[in-house]
Amino acid sequence: MIDKLKELIAEAEAFTAQSKDEVEQFRIKYLGSKGLLKEYFAEFKNVANEQKKEFGQTINQLKKTAEDKVNALKEALENQEEDNGLYGDLSRPGEPIALGARHPISIVKNQIIDIFSRIGFNVSEGPEIEDDWHNFTALNLPEYHPARDMQDTFFVQTNPDILLRTHTSSVQVRYMEENKPPIRTISPGRVYRNEAISARSHCFFHQVEGLYIDKDVSFADLKQTLQYFTTEMFGKSKIRLRPSYFPFTEPSAEVDVYWGLETETDYKMTKGTGWLEIMGCGMVDPNVLDNCGIDSKEYSGFAFGMGIDRIALLLHQISDIRLLSENDVRFLEQFKSAL
Ligand code: DAH
Repeated sequence: MIDKLKELIAEAEAFTAQSKDEVEQFRIKYLGSKGLLKEYFAEFKNVANEQKKEFGQTINQLKKTAEDKVNALKEALENQEEDNGLYGDLSRPGEPIALGARHPISIVKNQIIDIFSRIGFNVSEGPEIEDDWHNFTALNLPEYHPARDMQDTFFVQTNPDILLRTHTSSVQVRYMEENKPPIRTISPGRVYRNEAISARSHCFFHQVEGLYIDKDVSFADLKQTLQYFTTEMFGKSKIRLRPSYFPFTEPSAEVDVYWGLETETDYKMTKGTGWLEIMGCGMVDPNVLDNCGIDSKEYSGFAFGMGIDRIALLLHQISDIRLLSENDVRFLEQFKSAL
């Protein structure tokens, strides 16, 4: 009988199974309430006394072998099931990955950066929380200067010296303070003004500032650079410069691009004139150069500033500036195809 038990142990050890059903059948056969072990335990009383010890040990060994086998096989099969769940069918269609869309502000900003970088401009940035000097005073806008009213300002707490920058011209100042000419830089960024929010204006928006300082820079250089820009950006090379006023440039001009009057949209966009105003510009005022540590007798330069939001609205025929900051996915998803 002990030999028979040893055979059963060997059999149990060798047993393998492909399914949980087979394991269960094995369990019932060995460990079930009518199983082999039960049968052999029942035989115990009939075993001769001198063999009882060995019989007992062997039958316990069989029990342990069977139990270990059941546990090991169950675990192995469960792991296999998990693996099958993960890698089972490698021909399954993949999970669709939802593609994001770039924000129209980013699209336009990147286009502008790309266009100017091709003619040697680098990109610079400055803080959105500014001090009076960089936003106003250094730019030829001393305290009580009436032109400060052109840009309604948000002040930070009650400190009149700290404010949310009203334009990216503040970065001009910072850049000139830290870099020697020749300077060719554009500064994109967000700006803030205390204005009523409507379809046409917002209390925050985005600008790109441009600055070129070197020896013998002329107004003709400015005009040529702007014409290069409008040609690359809009495919339109006809521009006009209207005399204007900015405290930090002298002379100053407003730049219009000739959009044309071919379609009804052209009429609407240009209010029937064919011309679109796209930026302000001018020759950097010598006072500003001196304020920023650049010798105005040796150097001259030009600057310009344009609104990114405005250009995004124009290019994408968006009728309400508020859409740009509402994060409505239905709106944003429409820009999927753009770079
Ligand atoms: N800072 C002006 C504004 O926010 C825009 C501007 C005009 C910038 C003329 C310039 C410039 O650099 O030369 O309205």
